[in-house]
Amino acid sequence: MSSYVQESFAGIRVIKSYGREEQIRAGFAKESEGYKSESLSLVKVQALFYPFMLLMIGLSTIITVYMGGIEVMEGKITAGNIAEFIIYVNQLTFPVMSLGWVTSLIQRAAASQKRINNFLSIKPDIYSESQAIIKNISGDISFKNVSFTYPDTGIQAIKNISFELKAGEVLAIIGKTGSGKSTLANLLLRMYDIDKGEILIDGTPIHQLNLENYRSQIGFVPQEVFLFSDTIARNIAFSLDEMDMPKVEQAAKDAAVYHNIMEFDQQFETFIGERGITLSGGQKQRVSIARAIINSPQILIFDDSLSAVDTKTEETILNNLGKIMRHKTSVIIAHRVSTIKNADKIIVLDDGEIAEIGNHEHLLTKKGLYFDLYEKQLLEEEQIS
Ligand SMILES: Nc1ncnc2c1ncn2[C@@H]1O[C@H](COP(=O)(O)OP(=O)(O)OP(=O)(O)O)[C@@H](O)[C@H]1O
Ligand SMILES: [Mg+2]
Repeated sequence: MSSYVQESFAGIRVIKSYGREEQIRAGFAKESEGYKSESLSLVKVQALFYPFMLLMIGLSTIITVYMGGIEVMEGKITAGNIAEFIIYVNQLTFPVMSLGWVTSLIQRAAASQKRINNFLSIKPDIYSESQAIIKNISGDISFKNVSFTYPDTGIQAIKNISFELKAGEVLAIIGKTGSGKSTLANLLLRMYDIDKGEILIDGTPIHQLNLENYRSQIGFVPQEVFLFSDTIARNIAFSLDEMDMPKVEQAAKDAAVYHNIMEFDQQFETFIGERGITLSGGQKQRVSIARAIINSPQILIFDDSLSAVDTKTEETILNNLGKIMRHKTSVIIAHRVSTIKNADKIIVLDDGEIAEIGNHEHLLTKKGLYFDLYEKQLLEEEQIS
């Protein structure tokens, strides 16, 4: 019931915009009905059980008095014996009842503890090896015949991919939706371990690197922006150990979101999320970019992170990135050719495979997938203007 309510409130805007309030209300009534009938059956058992217990206790006293009465009349015991016996038995009733109660409590706790232990004993699939290497990476990336299948769905999202990227270069990835771009980004972050092939970072296999140390040197802007219900400053400074306002402001400037923030009444101290204001899609995306670049990472990954900003802002951000990411490695995933045309290397992904690879000019002369995409987007732009 509570998960139903939680989901309904989280998705309240979707529910209202589709006018599904009645159905959701009916769903909640059904959930409540289920909870009610479950509770009622428990209460029914209890309603029978407790009076029955009291009845048994009462009956035992009556039997004792009756049998004892007979014995007294036969002169075998005195009336005092019976009174004594009943008082002792009554004094015993509560401890015995408690014993039963405590036993049932212990059993319930044991069952819960077992489930908690099962959960706690699960080992994460991705972990640092004991002799994992801690080092400052420079950002050379090399994929060698990498294949990856999602274990839970069996979908092979990456098929036999190879490429090399030197520190300081910009790699762009473009391709149809579902072609495996985000999967590639996740593999680079080692969110999953690959099935076949090798990913080398500065020549070291990725699984031999200390996970925490490696990830701390990467800036990642995920496709689905997530910001915490906190101030803008603390969201941007998320990866810093200590708040450093000049750094936060610089990151906001580089992500071209500084002016938006300064327009809010409380500026960087503005609360966002459930307890504060709601940022626009493009503002969220740029706060997320600021969070990724604040620590000047060695490798920066943008997963479709410029999709919600206009082309002019996009250009500003890319220009700034050019300065921040000099001598460092950037991986930019995009749908628009305009975002990536200046990249050193462009990979066109198709169904998990590399369909084309090369720079903008090279790919245009090939007149393949990239060329088609470019023509189409150029045409669309002309139609708009
Ligand atoms: N967590 C997951 N578990 C199982 N399968 C997944 C998971 N994430 C993605 N997939 C599958 O892997 C394939 C590639 O997905 P991916 O998210 O990499 O595509 P994409 O190129 O990033 O698409 P888009 O441009 O829409 O973001 C898809 O078929 C998708 O269904
Ligand atoms: Mg994606």
